[in-house]
Amino acid sequence: MPKITFALPDGKERTCSANEGLSLMEVALQNALPGIIAECNGSAACATCHVIVEDALAAMLDPISEHENDMLEFTAAARQPGSRLSCQIRVDDRLDGAIVRIPAEA
Ligand code: FES
Repeated sequence: MPKITFALPDGKERTCSANEGLSLMEVALQNALPGIIAECNGSAACATCHVIVEDALAAMLDPISEHENDMLEFTAAARQPGSRLSCQIRVDDRLDGAIVRIPAEA
């Protein structure tokens, strides 16, 4: 089971075991992590599940879809190079050991 470390908005970290097939957003909600709201419940329609992934992980993930790219313009915290919608990232072995940052709202 992949272990993913979330860097929280307050600077603390939480490492969570994640079931493969869930989205990163679902893992964050299961673990009651602050900063992930997920108003649209994973439909890529709210941008309240914004996370920032490191370059190495970003390169391994499936590319950002055109729709996700559009929605990333509506995040509360400023978009950054590693910005993704966590509801659009499925957990698999590639995420084992990953560090995913949840930004503080701007
Ligand atoms: S949960 Fe709404 S965009 Fe991800």
